[in-house]
Amino acid sequence: MFSDFKLMDERPVYVQLKDYVQDMIVKGHLLEHQKLPSTRELSKLLAVSRNTVLNAYAELELDGIIYAVKGKGHFIGKVTTLETSSIEIDWKQRLNETTLLADEIDLIRQDIHWKKGMISFTSIAPEEKLFDVENFKRAFLTRMSIEGDIVLNYGYAKGYKPLIDHLLSYMEMKGVDISNKDILITNGFTEGLDILLSSLAKKSGRVLCENPTHHAALKLFSLHGLDVHGIDMQDDGIDMEQVEKTLADKDFDFAYLIPSYHNPTGIVTSSEKRSAIFQLFSKYQIPIIEDGFNEELRYSSSHLAPLIAFSGIGNNIVYIGSFSKILFPGLRVGWILADRELIDSLESMKRARTIHTSTLDQAVLYQYLQDGYFEKYLKKARFVYKKKYELARQACIQYIPYSRITGDGGLHLFIELKEDVDARLLLEKCYDKGVVFYPGDVFYTNGRGSNTFRLGFSRLADDDIVRGIQIIGDTLKTL
Ligand SMILES: Cc1ncc(COP(=O)(O)O)c(C=O)c1O
Repeated sequence: MFSDFKLMDERPVYVQLKDYVQDMIVKGHLLEHQKLPSTRELSKLLAVSRNTVLNAYAELELDGIIYAVKGKGHFIGKVTTLETSSIEIDWKQRLNETTLLADEIDLIRQDIHWKKGMISFTSIAPEEKLFDVENFKRAFLTRMSIEGDIVLNYGYAKGYKPLIDHLLSYMEMKGVDISNKDILITNGFTEGLDILLSSLAKKSGRVLCENPTHHAALKLFSLHGLDVHGIDMQDDGIDMEQVEKTLADKDFDFAYLIPSYHNPTGIVTSSEKRSAIFQLFSKYQIPIIEDGFNEELRYSSSHLAPLIAFSGIGNNIVYIGSFSKILFPGLRVGWILADRELIDSLESMKRARTIHTSTLDQAVLYQYLQDGYFEKYLKKARFVYKKKYELARQACIQYIPYSRITGDGGLHLFIELKEDVDARLLLEKCYDKGVVFYPGDVFYTNGRGSNTFRLGFSRLADDDIVRGIQIIGDTLKTL
């Protein structure tokens, strides 16, 4: 601005400068209450005398076009700009098929609108009262003082190197052979899956998964145009007989499995079954995308090795981890651990899509992990969630006439009612009594599950857990 000011005629310079400012206002280039350059700055910029600018400003002030504030300078007064014609675009008409589908299957849009004061079992987000804010602040200050300048600049698409190295050791401790593998940092599990689906060629166009399964994954499969084939869940994981028959019958691009604290059933796949899954999918040469989002939230029994640990130096398992449930979802940090060459290609896709995950977030997270706060936080979180889990499970046993209850840990339980009970009708009745939960059908691949629902207990007070479950149980008896 002002750099295009030119003398047009023989009139005094201050008059031409006044006209120029007025014209800029009318064209909408100078806005109401916008500060004008100081007389010293403008005289220098335009190579005119300071008196010229002072005279122009004085005339503009006299006409009420600008006003002066003592000690602060000159500002634009009331502005009346030229009328511009406004056009109205119907953006709905310009959306593509994928966006329309995303809109249609967006659960948040169709969510049960629970009101303040209700007991809501809908969420499986962590309880924020547990968040270790003080130590996270400490980690932030430490990392910023070490390399604030670096972490505020562009980083690498693959991720922040110290965090990648930390996670590689972390996964090695879980029994994974990392010698031919690498890690790509992503914005949580969801972006990891999206990047993977965007990168893999569609051959059969089919994906095999547990039925029911994580709704966000189903949504992405659908947006990527994949056909989903769900396999029933037994109490120790996916039904292997069904898997075997299905694999013998059809080809699949890959399988998507959640072996620990499966969402929504909460089932942990047994170690024997993990081994059998690995053997069978290897036999058919079908890659597995393993979702390890909740693995750390075990309350009893010993640590179960992730599926990827079974593959040794094999490369058919792609593991996606996330800090969303085990630490802070607001960080949006997750990781893909997979074959080194695959990660190399995924890195290009990540760079093309989002350049990289926030280096600042990754660096502070790294400091937090490095300083040992994560283990302490997990210990506390496990203690609190275990109590809630036991309380919720006990209350379900006492009050709900279920036909099956599953959930070996994590942040939720899954209830199956008698075949003829409609969980959505139950939800409607419970809503009137101030209790809401997730109807299970949204997690199914084939429209089943109308007699099921998920109870997330992580963010509820103990009293509300018991009272809410009692209300659900009482309501069920009156259906
Ligand atoms: C099965 C499953 N995987 C992963 C996640 C975490 O996703 P994100 O890391 O994108 O928050 C969730 C969250 O609810 C989940 O249920």
